[in-house]
Amino acid sequence: MWQYFMPTKIFFSQKVVEKNKEVFKNFGKMALIVTGKTSSRLNGSLDDIENVLKSLSIEFYTYDKIEENPTFEQIRQAVKELESYSFDFVVGVGGGSPLDSAKAIAVLLKNRSLPVEDLYDASKYNSSLPIIAVPTTSGTGSEVTQYSVLTDDTGFKRGFAHDLIFPTVALIDPLYTMSMSVSLTRSTGLDALCHAVEGFLSKRATLISDLYALESMRLIKQNLPRALENQNDFEARAAMSFASCLAGMVISQTSTTLAHVLGYPLSTFKGIRHGDATAAFLDVVVQKAQSEVPQKVDKIREIFGDIRKFIEVAGLEIKLQMTDEELEKWTKRVLTAKHMQWTRGTFDEFSIRKLYERMRAN
Ligand SMILES: [Fe+2]
Repeated sequence: MWQYFMPTKIFFSQKVVEKNKEVFKNFGKMALIVTGKTSSRLNGSLDDIENVLKSLSIEFYTYDKIEENPTFEQIRQAVKELESYSFDFVVGVGGGSPLDSAKAIAVLLKNRSLPVEDLYDASKYNSSLPIIAVPTTSGTGSEVTQYSVLTDDTGFKRGFAHDLIFPTVALIDPLYTMSMSVSLTRSTGLDALCHAVEGFLSKRATLISDLYALESMRLIKQNLPRALENQNDFEARAAMSFASCLAGMVISQTSTTLAHVLGYPLSTFKGIRHGDATAAFLDVVVQKAQSEVPQKVDKIREIFGDIRKFIEVAGLEIKLQMTDEELEKWTKRVLTAKHMQWTRGTFDEFSIRKLYERMRAN
């Protein structure tokens, strides 16, 4: 038995916003644009969207205060600033942080009395402003998922899921990713890799998600090194945008697993980029799946050889100072995460702790 549901209409091309500007017309007369401080200005995406909205006489307000790893508090502040307006739709522009924030804000502006915490209880709301997603990195996949990951008031990242927050439309233009630095290209590319591999090995994987996952892995193997080698290689950038979208469609079916939940505290407490923090644990996800799905692990090896080497060659190396208290807190948190039920292999407190100790510098 399998099912497939991913309702986002995807447009993928160069100059995608201008070429498909008619799309915006169906959403109403007042748009909220949610983005980060600077990058969407630099890569041209924000200008493109604002120009198209102007040309269609759609009013808009640009909220550009989203930071990396957005917190509950930042979302509360955004809603406070925006609640006096009457928006018809939300356009999320940027990497995972602006896109995930746009999703949370879209629900909260439609459900004015809903506290941020209640986004995690799907039974408490059944409406959202419609969302258009314009990714400017190639990794998050958020443009095609029903997930939003926020940092709660205790500093831990937590994702919520709701079919309402699947973007109605995703406008993907690989040109927007051309200005990513080498380190952002690596970190977002590794995030896409983790989505494909974790999704492929997830206990929720389906026939369709496996097709997407394998193609995504092949594309990443061929094109991430090329994009890192030469930032102006458009073909490689376009392939990474496609791979990231495919991997997003994978996790929309399978969710993410152990590597993601292990990586979350490294991002919020140690400032390591999400994709880097996650990829640091990906080899373990593959290794532990060996006894349960050996054919799948063989397929991953056929593509990458030793996946740890592929990740190291991409330039990832994490060594961190961490206290015993941090180790204990993070380990406990991982053991209770819902991601564990979809992860293959068995893990206890000792084995999780060892995974963190692997990258300990003190
Ligand atoms: Fe991710």
